[in-house]
Amino acid sequence: MPAVVVIGGQWGDEGKGRVVDFHSGYCSVIARYSAGNNAGHTIINDRGKFALHLVPAGIFRGEKACIIGNGVVIDPEKLIAEIAMLTERGVSTARLMISEHAHVIMPWHPIIDRAEEKLKGDLAIGTTGTGTGPAFYDKVARIGIRVADLLDKGFFEWKLRSALEYKNRVLQDLYQLPPLDFDEIFAKYTEFGERMRPYVADTIAYVQEADERGEYILLEGAQGTLLDLDTGTYPYVTSSVPASVAAGGAIGIGLGPTAIQRVVGVYKSYQTRVGNGPMPTEITSGDEMVMLREGTGGAAGTAEYGTTTGRARRVGWFDGVLARYTARLNGVTSVALTRLDSLSALESIKVCVAYELDDQRITTLPPTVNAMNRAKPIYEELPGWGQDVTHVRHLGDLPTEARQYVRRIEQILGVPVDMISVGPERHQAIVTRDVFGASIEP
Ligand code: GDP
Ligand code: IMO
Ligand code: MG
Repeated sequence: MPAVVVIGGQWGDEGKGRVVDFHSGYCSVIARYSAGNNAGHTIINDRGKFALHLVPAGIFRGEKACIIGNGVVIDPEKLIAEIAMLTERGVSTARLMISEHAHVIMPWHPIIDRAEEKLKGDLAIGTTGTGTGPAFYDKVARIGIRVADLLDKGFFEWKLRSALEYKNRVLQDLYQLPPLDFDEIFAKYTEFGERMRPYVADTIAYVQEADERGEYILLEGAQGTLLDLDTGTYPYVTSSVPASVAAGGAIGIGLGPTAIQRVVGVYKSYQTRVGNGPMPTEITSGDEMVMLREGTGGAAGTAEYGTTTGRARRVGWFDGVLARYTARLNGVTSVALTRLDSLSALESIKVCVAYELDDQRITTLPPTVNAMNRAKPIYEELPGWGQDVTHVRHLGDLPTEARQYVRRIEQILGVPVDMISVGPERHQAIVTRDVFGASIEP
């Protein structure tokens, strides 16, 4: 049962980093397979609190191989800084590997990211501004620069010259921005290449061999399914190719789809979103909004502000329509429900079970953003439990109302909840089955 994918079932920030950190103890390889440093995964364990943007959350288990796969786009400066931060804090990166096929975020990408957002006006997405989207546009346009290119000086010189000539025309003619200097970029990125060289490997061959040996491989998704280019709330989505959904896991690391035998869907106990786009269950004012955003009643220090950009996350009630949609899309076999503790102060909790759209009751994704904006959530209301649950480690010790809430979500998703996270730290969880199939608690 070699590969397990961990995906986000909502709009990102569900707690994937936290879940991967927990489960990485059971496997040999942990790999990122999509996106870039637009992702921000928070991990709190015996080594401290970390925000990782590119390095897989398995890095804290020193003996495991951690891979940044071919499907990822890498900002070398950010990656080098992340490695330095880990080293400084005593976390070894000796077993980190970088795919030679991963694409590189070049200096024009963040500039274009921000310029595009300005130009788009009402169509602005509220991107992270990291250049991740434009790096993927270039990948698809077949003019991207890959990690291996940086390591071949003569080839890189030729490729950069051609790419920059084109990009400088775009910067000047389309965005009225100053051109970038070839020599400066060439020197800087050649140096970045040398700094990354010790980590660069044929990661595709590495995971294929690990798979053949029957080793467990954990694929760490980024973003959430509702941000997926094909299946998310388009156009308010991200640009990863391969997709951040489970099906992208195989492509983004170099395995066949049959290698993936389990999919862990990480869902927050309510809903959040950063950036623009429809969010039918959003709460835009009042005490409930504040309680959800600040996590009142739950673990301290986990208010809903972006790990990458620091932006306040929009908050709302658990959207069962969208959650069921994403569970099916990903073939989720096991659910990790996070931040149950953050609901503890609420008197009652709503769950959206359907939408009313143009006088019809629907339980599927509305076809356009416009329709989604018109969709009115139909709620069920469940009683709150009014007590702290951050210390609970066994299902039987959860208040009845909290168990009832979890069961209702399980019914809606049609998939067992095998992990309930009640705090951000590694062991603040109730786990009934590990993701590789062993039963932990009857
Ligand atoms: P990711 O992008 O899916 O890895 O999620 P982020 O790290 O961006 O955001 C999740 C936030 O929730 C982080 O601040 C985590 O420390 C925090 N978190 C994760 N699980 C729990 C939990 O069960 N309870 C609380 N209170 N916070 C949690
Ligand atoms: P993790 O892995 C939350 C959102 C941005 C914006 C849209 C497009 O931490 O869950 P982009 O910069 O990708 O072009 O922005 O996608 N977004 C995320 N939101 N968590 C993320 O990653 C995100 N990655 C991108 O806010 O709405
Ligand atoms: Mg995040």
